[in-house]
Amino acid sequence: MSNDAEAALLDRDNAHLLHPLHSHAVHATGKVWVGGEGAFLVDANGDRYIDGLSGLWNNTAGNGCRELVEAGSKQLAEMAYASGYSGSTNPRAIELAEKLARITYPNINHFFFTSGGGEATDSNIKMARYYWKLKGQPEKTKVISRIWGYHGVTLAAMCATGMSIYWPMFEPRMPGFVHIPSPYPYRYEAPEGAESQGIAAADELEKAILAEGPETVAMFIAEPVQGGGGVIPPQPDYFPRIREICTKYDVLMVSDEVITGFGRTGKMFGLQHWDVEPDMIQYAKAITSGYFSLGGIGISDEIANTMHESGKPWMHAYTYSAHPTGCAIGCAMMDLIEREDFPGQAAAKGKRLLVGLKDALADHPNVGDIRGLGLMCAVEYVKDRATKESFDPADGIAAKINAEAVARGLFSRSRPDVFMVAPPIIIDDETIDQMVEITAESTRAVLG
Ligand SMILES: Cc1ncc(COP(=O)(O)O)c(C=O)c1O
Repeated sequence: MSNDAEAALLDRDNAHLLHPLHSHAVHATGKVWVGGEGAFLVDANGDRYIDGLSGLWNNTAGNGCRELVEAGSKQLAEMAYASGYSGSTNPRAIELAEKLARITYPNINHFFFTSGGGEATDSNIKMARYYWKLKGQPEKTKVISRIWGYHGVTLAAMCATGMSIYWPMFEPRMPGFVHIPSPYPYRYEAPEGAESQGIAAADELEKAILAEGPETVAMFIAEPVQGGGGVIPPQPDYFPRIREICTKYDVLMVSDEVITGFGRTGKMFGLQHWDVEPDMIQYAKAITSGYFSLGGIGISDEIANTMHESGKPWMHAYTYSAHPTGCAIGCAMMDLIEREDFPGQAAAKGKRLLVGLKDALADHPNVGDIRGLGLMCAVEYVKDRATKESFDPADGIAAKINAEAVARGLFSRSRPDVFMVAPPIIIDDETIDQMVEITAESTRAVLG
């Protein structure tokens, strides 16, 4: 196919289609994807690219996975859709909830399904508020989250999201949402005399709870590794302390596992790295490897028992909750993840990727930090390594590096000063090495 094929489709696209994060200017030079083969995507010109971010962190099994396709097709042929509202259910949703009860944190055994991650954030916020009302503490409604956290962009999720670029054109935000600093090992500055950087960063939560009044705070939500905010794994002592603080002040701890769930970080779920159990979780993306839009929440036995004993309906619902086709693909995906040891694969391949990036780029004067956990890694660029001074966001350094990478056959995403990679877990070693090489070459092409 010629370059004209993609350009012609983009012209038609621009005439009628609006996109997530829509920007007419950005999209004018967009890509039109028409095919996928394992860890590669194929554009309308027939060119192959490494799928550097697994779609949007979701497609861990890669494209063309027969057993996921067959599970979805079989379910569609048997019964395309039936309501999942109270009073109706379907076998695939029952099976998927059973599988999740087995592989998630031991105290999380009750699940509600959504169509994606943002809906899961809203569902957890509403679950937390409902729970505290049932417990006779209706004033516990506030949500604390972190700067650089991403939890989706429905109105409530956007208020929890701690990346301010998502807010200005949609103000006013809802009241009752508070943000604390990210533990960000490369940048968080602990106060003098702090026990450790991780403990100091966790203690920011205690300060915020006390400032708001513990009797007003419903929940704290955090990604085990901040993803869209720039792949930021925390210090090992951070989450254990967060758990202590949440327990001390009766604040529900919510683990947003939309990216970290199902093996991405080298464990099945992210907080398992630090032996911490949350009160609630949320997941999406890799639960179906992106083959169907499915997400959801999981809640502790304590919350579920309170809910069941109350007799008060949870007036929260989505038409596509427990969609049989999504759940059928989710069940097949759970089998695949366990059989092929996705967490183990992500740990080994992630190590290769991180070590490769460090070997290739650690000495570059504009590379400030190279970090990752499992198969999610990032390179943070700085103007000055000694002072960690960032580039002006208007310079769009990482976007320029991303453009160079695309020209060399690697398609991924960036924050203004951070280039991120999180390929499908089925990727092979040779392609990982190619990603490293392209990232290094692209860095040199932009920064010398
Ligand atoms: C951690 C996290 N939570 C929530 C979301 C929102 O998910 P969705 O885009 O499916 O609404 C995302 C999306 O990237 C995410 O990374």
